[in-house]
Amino acid sequence: VVVSPSGDRAYLGRSAAAAVRAVTWHELECGSYSADLPLWRELALRTAMGTQPVTLLDVGAGSGRVTLDLAAQGCRVTALDLDEDLLAALRAHAQERALDVQTVCADARTFELEQRDFGLCIAPMQTVQLLGGESERVAFLGRVAAHLRPGGLLACAIVTRLEPFDCGNGDLGPSAESRRVGGTLYSSRATRVEVRARHITIERERQIVSAKQTAGERNVVELERLSAAQLRSEGVAAGLRPEPDRVIAPTEDHVGSIVVMLRG
Ligand SMILES: C[S@@+](CC[C@H](N)C(=O)[O-])C[C@H]1O[C@@H](n2cnc3c(N)ncnc32)[C@H](O)[C@@H]1O
Repeated sequence: VVVSPSGDRAYLGRSAAAAVRAVTWHELECGSYSADLPLWRELALRTAMGTQPVTLLDVGAGSGRVTLDLAAQGCRVTALDLDEDLLAALRAHAQERALDVQTVCADARTFELEQRDFGLCIAPMQTVQLLGGESERVAFLGRVAAHLRPGGLLACAIVTRLEPFDCGNGDLGPSAESRRVGGTLYSSRATRVEVRARHITIERERQIVSAKQTAGERNVVELERLSAAQLRSEGVAAGLRPEPDRVIAPTEDHVGSIVVMLRG
């Protein structure tokens, strides 16, 4: 069982092969989502000041699904993540596309950057629900507040509703997503979602098939349960001002999100 980290140091010390696997799983399991991109583009456009491109902080940027899209729109993006292997992949993708992106390997709850005038900070794909409980989220919100320019905007996508299922009990569940890297086929399928009082557990079966081996592992991600009202009040505790939420509609393959908006 691989429990995906929510801020611990489990990422450190991966071998080169393990880094390739980590990036591949990340891109396989997150990379096909695109329903949120129009909202991030809209917020970036709204935040831009005249002809100046928006300076944007993407927290939990991973290997750059959103960062690269916004950099291609002309935003000046700083991508922050705890996982240096994902950031290395992000830099490689940016170079392939001749995009200029800054990367910072840091913890969202403790980061200190020289730049403190970001116009927009985004935390897509439930990243705030990976940070731990209320005190960790308030720490993150405080760090963001310290790095926004006056009037700058923080937008956090959260999932508040997930339908539980368990393939082990005969539920169908979503189909597997697959990707070939060299001669190796990676596939991943969500097999269980359990909604408990404080956490949502998402379990996936992963399989790697190559000429040399077939290997499987079970991956478990724990999301903190969080309502928009709670995140808004935590934002206020961190010195931010709430604005009306936005909604990202569900798609056939992905659940919908609420985007909590907080202004510095
Ligand atoms: C669900 S992924 C989202 C990736 C990317 N933003 C996207 O939307 O495709 C969450 C990301 O948050 C990162 N992360 C988790 N805990 C973090 C923390 N405490 N500080 C910084 N990044 C963190 C993970 O490494 C991962 O890349």
